[in-house]
Amino acid sequence: MKHLVAPSLLASDFGRLNEEITLINESTADWLHLDIMDGKFVPNISFGFPVLKAVQKIVEKPMDVHLMIVEPERYIDRFLDMGASMITVHYEVCPHLHSTISQIKSSGAGAGVALNPHTPVESLRDILAELDLVCIMSVNPGFGGQKFIPHTLEKIRALKQMIVQQNASCLIEVDGGITLENAGSILRAGVDVLVAGSTVFKSANPKDTVSKLKSLSMDTLKV
Ligand code: DX5
Ligand code: ZN
Repeated sequence: MKHLVAPSLLASDFGRLNEEITLINESTADWLHLDIMDGKFVPNISFGFPVLKAVQKIVEKPMDVHLMIVEPERYIDRFLDMGASMITVHYEVCPHLHSTISQIKSSGAGAGVALNPHTPVESLRDILAELDLVCIMSVNPGFGGQKFIPHTLEKIRALKQMIVQQNASCLIEVDGGITLENAGSILRAGVDVLVAGSTVFKSANPKDTVSKLKSLSMDTLKV
């Protein structure tokens, strides 16, 4: 499968939200990644329903919603009503993960689980078959513009192996610190979805940067 690219809106200029989302609509991006932070699970607050509603009106790409919030099950139905295509919750805040995943999937949306850098991929062994996506955090969640944690590559390889062994079909997404320089080795490790915030929105030409991330091919990566 050709990899997907999901620009993260967090790094965009919120004062020009309309233009920034239009750029993504016109780009070859596959999804728009939306980071919801509650100031409790992570030490930052991003944006909530009113902003998401404005985004929903403009965006033409599927919304990939990354919930960095405690008790996500309390809000999942509202995110589903907003038209989220994929909802990802954090393993670290879901004591009843199976039930939370079922809640997301009951509406037809895709269900994902995100793992913090210290959370082993083995934690998902008994739920992998139920998941549409696993998001491996390659930075500590909460802020854009951080440096990629190199150990993530080993986690991606281990997860890929687990998916193949179980004949599961979930996608591997990587989130945090992805650049045009490191995207090649990340893809080689077995990633399906690249999330990129600063690399896309802080670049001189975001559309062009999305194309560059998109056009990395496994053939050229082997060189
Ligand atoms: C971090 C967020 C990321 C963030 C990535 O907690 O989950 O999606 O926007 O930003 P960059 O690509 O700048 O590291
Ligand atoms: Zn994210």
